[in-house]
This record gives sequence, structure tokens and C-alpha cells, in this order.
Amino acid sequence: MVHVVNDIQISPDRLMRRVDELAEIGAITGPRGHAGSSRLALTDDDRLGRDLVMTWMRDLGLDITVDAIGNVVGQMPSDSGLAPVMCGSHIDTVGTGGRFDGNLGVLAGLEVIESVMSAGVQLPRPLAVAFFTDEEGARFPPDMLGSLVYAGGMAVEAAQRIVAVDGTGATVGSELERIGYLGAAPCPGPAPHAFVELHIEQGPVLEQMGRRVGAVTGVQGISWTAVELRGVSNHAGTTPMSMRCDPMFVVGHMTAFLRSVATEIGAPQVATVGRVELHPNLINVIPASATFTIDVRHTDDKMLREVEQRVDDELRRVAADEGVSVSTETLARFEPVVFDERVVATVVAAARRRGEEPVVMPSGAGHDAQMLARMCPTAMIFTPSIGGISHNPAEDTSVADLALGCQLLADVMLDLAADRHFEHEGIA
Ligand code: GLV
Ligand code: MN
Ligand code: MN
Repeated sequence: MVHVVNDIQISPDRLMRRVDELAEIGAITGPRGHAGSSRLALTDDDRLGRDLVMTWMRDLGLDITVDAIGNVVGQMPSDSGLAPVMCGSHIDTVGTGGRFDGNLGVLAGLEVIESVMSAGVQLPRPLAVAFFTDEEGARFPPDMLGSLVYAGGMAVEAAQRIVAVDGTGATVGSELERIGYLGAAPCPGPAPHAFVELHIEQGPVLEQMGRRVGAVTGVQGISWTAVELRGVSNHAGTTPMSMRCDPMFVVGHMTAFLRSVATEIGAPQVATVGRVELHPNLINVIPASATFTIDVRHTDDKMLREVEQRVDDELRRVAADEGVSVSTETLARFEPVVFDERVVATVVAAARRRGEEPVVMPSGAGHDAQMLARMCPTAMIFTPSIGGISHNPAEDTSVADLALGCQLLADVMLDLAADRHFEHEGIA
């Protein structure tokens, strides 16, 4: 018998127990004593995290598939033959991550499914929860790799050949095999009926506005470039300033240039140099080479392209002046994504039913949902980040806000399973 239900109650205690248990794997302590997580994609700790979440999926009796890029989907058993309403996110972290980025969306999905199953209700369609491989891209760029491959945006063979940035020579394929997550299910994966991702905001907007829910309209465009510079290594005391070919000078100039361009354009333009490596990296030696990364983002692709061009022109000009050679490699390039208005409106309506006026906002961070949006109606729910801090062990969200986010995930998934999103024409 099919029941139309819209009042499943999730258990905040069960959600928090799982969040705490998963965070113990790869646990790190930040400078001020905050407990964070370090589970870079496809490392031993990622494997242990995956094993734990798979155990929870098995305990719930979910039908589990592991695909050829290591994405794991757990689906409620169903003989309806209908595509599921899927939620999910990732459980890999940056090297200095918090407890909630990604993990929340996966564990809240498990909590929703457990609540529905233990209430004994039969939904019009099954629910599913996924964790996608290498969302962070910190070890194997680009970011959102698993969901990109799931959605057919990159061939699985090409993705498996990606080499780690850590210089070990490990590839996505070799690491998947090593940790036992080179699955048999084909990529791209089957399209869900709809997809919704609960995630912490990772920024300050909700907190500053005093609101508890974000209804996410889309994700800004992301451009990642690795730059390699080669100069002339020489003595720091004897080489006149006019005779230097110093790659670090170019890195410093470009860091300041990115800041000034982003400031001149204003929000939502952002630009970051996040990784710099010098060789030989010694106090009294002008470096022979430098590699650094550029991360540029904007919600408007035309603006993003203009900034990319300005940055590239300036890089080549300053490097030529300094006598330094340049080579660049695009590590990630994703256009801005607009989510399905009906699903966004479903999130807005669900928040209002719970007495919360959501902020209707774009996401600054990249998310798996932006890839799933290529396959099916998709949106996201944001829950506040205390102090706007993320990608940092100090990342935090109140238990009440985490529980509200999980409850809204349940409400929205039930709406999607009953096709109530088709009742919304746009964001009211
Ligand atoms: C990935 O999560 C990113 O936004 O960098
Ligand atoms: Mn994330
Ligand atoms: Mn992240």
C-alpha cells in the first residue's frame, strides 16, 4: 500500500551519533583544539570511512551498488522499478577538514531512510543515499570527480587515470583497487527521479542574516589552474635585483593581482592561491622553480572567462619581464549551474512549513549536486556554519540546526517521492 506521508520525524541523536563516529576516522585536532577530520580521497582513512558507512547501509538492509569510480549508492529495497529520489554528498575531506562538510549530507540521508523504514511506510518511490568519490579534488583534481563521472561528464577510464598531486604516482584507478572500491556498476549511473543534497553553508551568509535555512539556487562557476614557473636559481646575497629570474616573485605578484581583481569586481567574484611549492625552498637561495594553484569563481560564466583571461595575460606579462618560463594546466573548469526551480521552491515551502524563512541563495562551494543537476531535477538545502568557517577543523554547526536540516531533507524527499515538486512553478 502506498501512503502519502509528510511528517516523518528524524532522530537528531541517531544522526549525531553517526556524525561523531565517522569523525573519529582520520580525526585531527585544530590549533584551538577543535576536532576535525582528515580523510583525503582514496586513502586508508577514506577506506575506513567508506567501510563504516557501508556497514550502516547494510544494517538498514539497503540495496548497495559500488560503481567503477567508487561511488556508493544505498537504496531502499523496492519492487516498484521506479527511479529513486536520491540524496547524498561525499565523505572525503580536505586534509584539514571539519566534521560536517559532505558527511552531513550522507549521514542525514541515512537518517531519513532509517526514519522512513522504521515508521513502516511505503512511499510512491524508493529513497536512496549516495556518497560520491573525491568530491574535494584536493588529492585528485578536479573536484566533484565521482559525481561528474556518475553524471556522464567524464569517461570513467579517463577519471581512473588521474594522478595524485602528492607526487606518489598513485592514480584514481590504482587507489580504488588498493582500497577495494573499484566496483562493478557501470558509469554513468542511472538517473534518479530527483536529487537533493543537504550541506553546511561553509560561508557566513545565513549566520549574518540570522536565518537557519538556505534554499540553494545553484552553484557558481569554478576555474582551477596549476601554474609551473621556471627561473634561475642563484645566491640570495650576491645576485643583483636587476639580474634575477625569480619564480617566487611571479607567485607573489599574481597573488596580489588576484586579490586586486577580485576586490575591483566585487562579490561574488573570489580568487585564491591555495597551494605553493618552491624548489629548493631555502632561505638564501632564489628558487629555481615554483608551482602554484589559482582558484577563481563567479556565478556568471562571462565574468569568469574575463577574469581568467586577465589573469593569464598578467601572468605571462610578469613572467616574461622576470625572465621566468610559464606552463599552465587546467585542473577543473565547471560552468555555473542553475538548480531546478520547482525543487528549490519545494525546499522553500518545506522550510516555511517548519516556521523558517529560508535565504534563497547560490552556493560559493562546489557540490556533487551540481553534477547530478545534469541528470535530474536537483536542489540543495544549506544549514548555517558558525563563523562561516569551513575546510578547517573549526567548522561547526549547532545540533539544533543540523537536526532541522536533516528534518527538511526528510520533508523534501517525501515531497519529491510524491511528485509534489510539480505543484511549484517557481520560487515564490
Ligand atoms: C569543493 O568542495 C570546492 O568548493 O572547492
Ligand atoms: Mn562538501
Ligand atoms: Mn569541501
